[in-house]
Amino acid sequence: MHFFDYKESKFYADGVSIEKIIREVGTPCYIYSHKTLTRHYHAFDEAFKDMPHLVCYSVKANSNIAILKTFVKEGSGFDIVSGGELYRALKAGANPKKIVYSGVGKREDEIEYALRTGILMFNVESPEELRALNEIAGRLKKKASFAIRVNPDVDPKTHPYISTGLKKNKFGIETNQAIKEYVYAKSHLKNLIPFGVDCHIGSQITQLSPFIDALNKTREIIVILRREGVDVQYLDIGGGLGITYKDEDAPHPSKYGKVVINETKTLGVTLIFEPGRVMVGNAGILVAKVLYTKYGMEKNFIVVDAAMNDLARPSLYGSYHSIKSVNKQNSAPAMIADVVGPICESGDFFAKDREISAFQSGDLMAIMSAGAYGFSMSSNYNSRPRAAEVMVKGNRFYIIRDRESYKDLIKGEKIPKDRR
Ligand code: LLP
Repeated sequence: MHFFDYKESKFYADGVSIEKIIREVGTPCYIYSHKTLTRHYHAFDEAFKDMPHLVCYSVKANSNIAILKTFVKEGSGFDIVSGGELYRALKAGANPKKIVYSGVGKREDEIEYALRTGILMFNVESPEELRALNEIAGRLKKKASFAIRVNPDVDPKTHPYISTGLKKNKFGIETNQAIKEYVYAKSHLKNLIPFGVDCHIGSQITQLSPFIDALNKTREIIVILRREGVDVQYLDIGGGLGITYKDEDAPHPSKYGKVVINETKTLGVTLIFEPGRVMVGNAGILVAKVLYTKYGMEKNFIVVDAAMNDLARPSLYGSYHSIKSVNKQNSAPAMIADVVGPICESGDFFAKDREISAFQSGDLMAIMSAGAYGFSMSSNYNSRPRAAEVMVKGNRFYIIRDRESYKDLIKGEKIPKDRR
C-alpha cells in the first residue's frame, strides 16, 4: 500500500506532482511519501495492540533523520547497528529507552556510547561480545541489559545474501550455547542484566512459516531459561517481513501479527520488533531522467542518469523494481530493454529484458519500491554525488537531504605536503 499514483495521467506522490518536484530539485532524486510512512507504522503497530510490544524501526533500511523523526513522532523506537545509527536516532529525538542495538561487530567506543546513552538493550551476538559488554559496563559503573541473538537454524526462504538465521550465517549464537551463556552471565558477569531473547532470521520474507519455526525455537529457549532461573521479559523477533516488489504475496502485518500473537501470548513477555523494509520500502521511489536509448541487434538499452551507486539492489541481489513513466500513464509496452545507469560496470542496471514503454530523452522514470535499502546503501562510486532526498507531506514537499556537490565528493581528502 502506498500513495504514489497517477492523476490525470501525471505521476503524483500524495498531493504533489513528481514533475513539479523534479523541476525544482533535479534528478536523480529519492521521493518519500509521509502519508505512506505513517500508515505503514500504524498498520504494523495496530497488529500487536493486544500484546505489550515495542516497534523498533530498523534504521539501516533508511536512515535519513527526517524519516527517523517521522517515526519518533508516531511513537517508534529504533533498532541500530552502529554508533552512527545511534547518533542519527538521537538527533531525530529518539527515546533511548526504546533503542535496541544489534550487530556482530560492536566496537568498544560504540558500546560505551550506547551505555552512556542508556539504551534499552544490547542484542549480543557472541560469547566474546558478552564478556566485552560486561567489562565495559563495569568500567563505566553501569549495568547493561542484554538479549542474546540466537541463531535458530531456520531457513527464511529468501535471497542467500539476506538470510541470517541459518547455522552457516555469521549471526547470533547457536541455541544450546546461548542457553549456557545466559546461565554463565547470571552467575559470573555481574554488570549484565539478562533482559530478553532475540532472533532475526532474514529479510524480504514472504511466507509465515519461517517466522513460526523461529518463534517455536525462541519459545523453547525462554521456557528453559526460566527453569534455570533466568527470567527474561522481552522477546525480540527482529524484522524481516517482506513487501511486494512485483507479484510476491507478502503477508499483511495484521496476518503476521495474528501468527506471532498466537505463538507468544502465553509467554508473558513484551514483544520487540525491528521492521525496516515493511515500513519504508514502498514509501519511496527513485526518480531518474532518461538520457539515451540505444537500439542494438541483440539488446536495447535505456540509459538513465541514476545508477547502481544510487540504488544497488538490482546489481547486488538481482532484485526487481517496477518502473513507471512519470510523464504519462498507461503507455503500452513498446520494447524490451535493459534499463541501465552511466557507471562503468555491466552490473549497473535497474531492469533486465524488461517490457517497457518507449521513453524519450528527457523523460522521467520512477523506479518504485526504493525506500528501503536505497539511499542508505548508496555510494559515491564513479565520483557521482549522491542523490537528493525529498519528503512529500500532503500538498507540500521538503528537501530532506541536499544533492551532494563536487566539493562534497572530496571532503576530508588531503594531498600530502611533501615536496617530491
Ligand atoms: N534487524 C536486524 C538485526 C537486521 O539485520 C535487519 C536487516 C533488520 C532488523 C530489518 O530487516 P527488514 O525488516 O528490513 O527485513 N540490503 C538488503 C537487506 C539487508 C537486511 C539487513 N538486515 C536488501 O536491500 O534487500
